[in-house]
Amino acid sequence: MVAVSMLSADFLHLGQDADFVNEHADFFHLDIMDGVFVPNISYGFPVVEAIASVAKKPLDAHLMIVRPENYVERMAGAGVGMLSFHLNAAENPTQVINLIHANGMKAGVAVNPDIPVERLFPYLPVCEFVLIMSVFAGFGGQKFIETSYGRIETVRKEIASQGLSCLIEVDGGVSGKNAAALKSAGADILVAGSAVFKASDPAEAVWQMR
Ligand code: DX5
Ligand code: ZN
Repeated sequence: MVAVSMLSADFLHLGQDADFVNEHADFFHLDIMDGVFVPNISYGFPVVEAIASVAKKPLDAHLMIVRPENYVERMAGAGVGMLSFHLNAAENPTQVINLIHANGMKAGVAVNPDIPVERLFPYLPVCEFVLIMSVFAGFGGQKFIETSYGRIETVRKEIASQGLSCLIEVDGGVSGKNAAALKSAGADILVAGSAVFKASDPAEAVWQMR
């Protein structure tokens, strides 16, 4: 499945880019940054709500913020269906997962490239997806980190050995060039921003990934 990151969308023509995602992708990927957990600020509820008002595909919000628990309920109210937070941003990840579920959303735990993926293992049975970052969270348009393949394989093996249905989402530097290798490594959902919206033909870029 393909999730398109709206971070690289044209914010002066957001409706057009939302229509594009409705037609060509499987999810809207919404990157929420607070300037504290990551050194960048993206956008917040007014943008999420505007996209939700026209979205025909589920909203997958990726929280790159401290104290994610404070925003879970509002994300659900804004129309988000899948919500991920960074493992090291939460004091009690299990509580955040429970809160996400209590608000009717699918829960995901995210890890940056410097966090051992084994730290995700305890959460695999209780969340619907994990988000393996293939760049350091904070900015679109970064170069894919090649060691991500092995990290995805490690998590895929653990999901299989525990007989679980948790999905693997991969985010950062993804394009038609590495999509096949990512799928072989075990990825279920690929997030792409700049590879889609900065392409001369965005529909072709999604098609290349598929
Ligand atoms: C990075 C974000 C990504 C980003 C991906 O912090 O989590 O979702 O938008 O952008 P590209 O596809 O350009 O690497
Ligand atoms: Zn993201």
